[in-house]
Amino acid sequence: MATLISKETIAPQFTRYVLECEPIARKHRAGQFVMVLIHDHGERIPLTIADSDAEAGTITLVVQAVGKTTMEMELLEPGAEIQVAGPLGTPTHVERVGTCVCIGGGAGIAPLYPIAKAMKNAENHIISILGGRTKELVIMREEMEAVSDEMIYTTDDGSFGRKGLVTHALNDLIEERGKPDMVIAIGPAIMMKFVAEMTRPHEIPTIVSLNSIMIDGTGMCGGCRVGLGTETKFVCVDGPEFDGHKVDFDLLMKRQRTFVEQEEEARRRFEEQHRCRAMEGAEVS
Ligand SMILES: Cc1cc2nc3c(=O)[nH]c(=O)nc-3n(C[C@H](O)[C@H](O)[C@H](O)COP(=O)(O)OP(=O)(O)OC[C@H]3O[C@@H](n4cnc5c(N)ncnc54)[C@H](O)[C@@H]3O)c2cc1C
Ligand code: FES
Repeated sequence: MATLISKETIAPQFTRYVLECEPIARKHRAGQFVMVLIHDHGERIPLTIADSDAEAGTITLVVQAVGKTTMEMELLEPGAEIQVAGPLGTPTHVERVGTCVCIGGGAGIAPLYPIAKAMKNAENHIISILGGRTKELVIMREEMEAVSDEMIYTTDDGSFGRKGLVTHALNDLIEERGKPDMVIAIGPAIMMKFVAEMTRPHEIPTIVSLNSIMIDGTGMCGGCRVGLGTETKFVCVDGPEFDGHKVDFDLLMKRQRTFVEQEEEARRRFEEQHRCRAMEGAEVS
């Protein structure tokens, strides 16, 4: 069990949760995640450990509320006890490579942060490219600036940084400055696919962290399987990081849509229940 110590809204739909969870905080390494179950009738969901403090015994999760469980999580109050299993997944392979471009899109910035931090600690030159639809959705800017040597921001609407996509910024960076030694990209599958397509002809080693659907998170159910070249891998135990040039992104995106109807229905029912509860609690004049 883990105890929620604090929660803070950091952007629309994004909440930072700090949990007291000493055994996980002690063992955590960059790139790992936890499976979270917020109550006995809930669904287990995978969430990256965005930060940890071994001395304080705490882990930090940064979560975008996109569906029933992540919306229900927003209702937790400090003191709440939830089930957290981990740390899971293979840690990031951290080494000194030279210049490492860290690309984060939307909620992908949360898992990117601990990896960028670890790569910076390994004495790499970190160039971070962070993107979002609008300025307020480019999250964790202060944290990423603290572990980066150079920052490039992009927004779809031009409200912050340059207008356009992270791939436009990466393309210009390669054209102006030549090949970096490594690219790490985390964000929507479509973003990672296009980053990998851009780096492939330049033969730039490219690591992506995959957000496949997970059920048990222990390699037993096969729910998170992905195509990697001619092989099939399980994201929960073999990943979540993989060679971006080998990932079958089209299959990943297809599998991510498997339960869309059920997810939509669960979210609709959850929102309806909450509207009803809010109306029951409202004063009648
Ligand atoms: C290893 C790993 C680490 C993750 N780390 C984080 C994190 O640090 N912060 C964070 O906000 N999210 C993270 N995710 C995604 C998170 O697990 C999902 O957003 C969550 O399971 C959605 O649950 P839900 O019940 O709220 O929504 P659902 O009803 O399950 O889904 C709502 C919508 O989100 C989409 N969705 C569902 N699961 C995923 C997924 N795995 N990836 C992308 N879209 C999805 C669905 O297609 C649907 O459109 C991670 C996923 C993985 C596999
Ligand atoms: S989530 Fe079940 S095998 Fe990975």
